[in-house]
Amino acid sequence: MAKVDGAVWVISGANRGLGFELTKRVLEASDSTVVVAGCRDPSAADDLKKLSSSNGSRVFIVQLDVSSPDSVQAAAQQISQDVGQVDVLINNAGTVDPCEPAMVLDISKYSQVMRVNAIGPMDLTQQLMPLIRKGKGQTIVNISSIIGSHGVLEQTLTSDGKASESPFNSWQMAYRCSKSALNMQTQVLAAELKTHGYKVISIHPGMPESDMGQETSSQTGLPTNTLQESATGLLKVIHGLKPADTGKFLDWNGNAVPW
Ligand SMILES: NC(=O)c1ccc[n+]([C@@H]2O[C@H](COP(=O)([O-])OP(=O)(O)OC[C@H]3O[C@@H](n4cnc5c(N)ncnc54)[C@H](OP(=O)(O)O)[C@@H]3O)[C@@H](O)[C@H]2O)c1
Repeated sequence: MAKVDGAVWVISGANRGLGFELTKRVLEASDSTVVVAGCRDPSAADDLKKLSSSNGSRVFIVQLDVSSPDSVQAAAQQISQDVGQVDVLINNAGTVDPCEPAMVLDISKYSQVMRVNAIGPMDLTQQLMPLIRKGKGQTIVNISSIIGSHGVLEQTLTSDGKASESPFNSWQMAYRCSKSALNMQTQVLAAELKTHGYKVISIHPGMPESDMGQETSSQTGLPTNTLQESATGLLKVIHGLKPADTGKFLDWNGNAVPW
């Protein structure tokens, strides 16, 4: 096992997009922090490999497909052997496909989105819990989305219950339901762990200009923000978390998002 002086962060979906940006910035913020970077295909994770070679022994690349219980279990065992503790878990891996409305949505694809965005994060959290208990950070961050918010959807409905012209109405059915489920998991887990001082939150990262953000922007016409803006904001919020914040749904600027 590696000798670890600083905090250990585990970030899923760390090979590209927001996960990669978070990995870079966590490493930049402290010389002693270690990042376990989860990705589905380490052999193709060229950017992560470069980051790993320029950061000595502070990046551990771990094969992790959050939709596969075998992969999650193997990753947890690997993390236990490599670093032996977890201070901050960022459940970042996510998928938006398919973007279909409810009545035409392919049910098997819906099931897969739920697996990746909701069930996978719960599985990973459960499997890593023994290592989180050994760490000092006691922080679990679920990267969610404002479009999984019931409150925000309600605000886009007119008073007679008909949908307004919001580009998000009736769209991305699978994605929004999966993020709503993730949000409920945040609340339930926060309640379960409350007496132990854990910080469990959901957070909306804005619309970072990752592959997902660019696709969403091209379909809705809504503006993106840079990966750097999202990652910097998220890390500021995460570093400032206190046990009293557990169970909250925040955005990357630290503002509360309605459930
Ligand atoms: N960008 C936005 O506009 C936006 C807005 C709100 C919330 N979010 C959330 O932010 C998080 C990061 O998204 P992003 O914008 O960086 O999207 P992205 O560019 O599409 O990246 C998604 C990441 O998740 C990984 N992933 C997908 N399925 C996986 C699985 N089964 N197991 C493990 N990893 C998997 C991908 O790995 P591969 O390379 O192997 O596919 C990739 O690393 C997601 O949870 C997303 O829902 C994004």
